[in-house]
Amino acid sequence: MTVNIELKPTTEPLSDAERAAILADPKFGQYFTDHMVTVKYTEGRGWHSAELRPYGPIELDPATSVLHYGQEVFEGLKAYRQADGSVACFRPEANAERMARSSVRMAMPELPTDLFIAAIDALVAQDAAWVPDDPEKSLYLRPFMFSTEIGLGVNRPSAEYLFMLIASPAGSYFSGVGKPVTAWLSTDYVRASPGGTGEAKCGGNYAASFLAQAQAVAEGCDQVCWLDAIERKYIEEMGSNNVFFVYGSGADARLFTPELSGSLLPGITRDSLLCAADDLGIAAEEGRISVEQLRADAASGAITEAFGSGTAAVVTPIGGFRSPDSAIVIGDGQPGEVTARVRAHLLAVQHGELDDRHGWLHTIIPAPTAAAR
Ligand code: COI
Repeated sequence: MTVNIELKPTTEPLSDAERAAILADPKFGQYFTDHMVTVKYTEGRGWHSAELRPYGPIELDPATSVLHYGQEVFEGLKAYRQADGSVACFRPEANAERMARSSVRMAMPELPTDLFIAAIDALVAQDAAWVPDDPEKSLYLRPFMFSTEIGLGVNRPSAEYLFMLIASPAGSYFSGVGKPVTAWLSTDYVRASPGGTGEAKCGGNYAASFLAQAQAVAEGCDQVCWLDAIERKYIEEMGSNNVFFVYGSGADARLFTPELSGSLLPGITRDSLLCAADDLGIAAEEGRISVEQLRADAASGAITEAFGSGTAAVVTPIGGFRSPDSAIVIGDGQPGEVTARVRAHLLAVQHGELDDRHGWLHTIIPAPTAAAR
């Protein structure tokens, strides 16, 4: 069944001058575009009432299920101004498929991929003026879905849901583009255990991470780095992104990232980098790495660089890791050459400066014609 998105745009968009002031320094997740998309789901009826409407608050009954039991999933992807002036977003099908997998894990209905993409097309086309021109900036898209049935029983999942899509112009996620971050190896808390919700992108995983993140900040670090829940020794992922290590340098450089153990988030940037490494002629491998191994390989110089990868984080250099009893410095603690190369390559693909050999770009607004330029 095709669900059409009814367009109900605002009559009061932000002025060009106000929008330009925001786009000059958007930071991350602080400003939102003029519109949003909402789609309802009702058991027995399916997806319906799809609308693009002015961005704004929604009203919820205090007994709405999500407020009590947190049945919620979300995604993150970006739209980029392309070198030829068109606008495209990066791998939206991959986000739609991951949201569907997250939904299954959270006993929620799956939003069809074509409706997910139609929502993105409608919002980005409507709010195209919010897609920054600067290659270090983009329009971050946040699709999410939550249970809306009213009632406090937990004998079955909600029978009603709301899917929403909002957009936010984005600069660097961490303060200072390209500045290395320090990660806190969390030994007091775990993020996810086998059979849990670690593979799902659900709000609850992040709710449970804030205490460890606060501890990381209190210890002078930028971000928490999670270890596996069983042995508490293998590196899994960071608070908001996956992690990569670089072994060797120059032509001998090799990327290594923790394997998808069942409790890690299967990052789309992570997957893209594993493919792009091949395009760059850099070997890449997935496996397990313990803190002990990291410490030994960083001390011997075998590990030369580390970086985080994610939609928001892009490729962020990691200068070092700390735990209650140790500090691990990666290389000289400064961003490395391989990290810079991988980051530049990814951004060039995302901005249409390189051949889209994997078919990752989804064009939403075509390039202006010569007459329109
Ligand atoms: C993203 O990179 O899109 C994320 O979802 C990270 C977010 C939690 C800031």
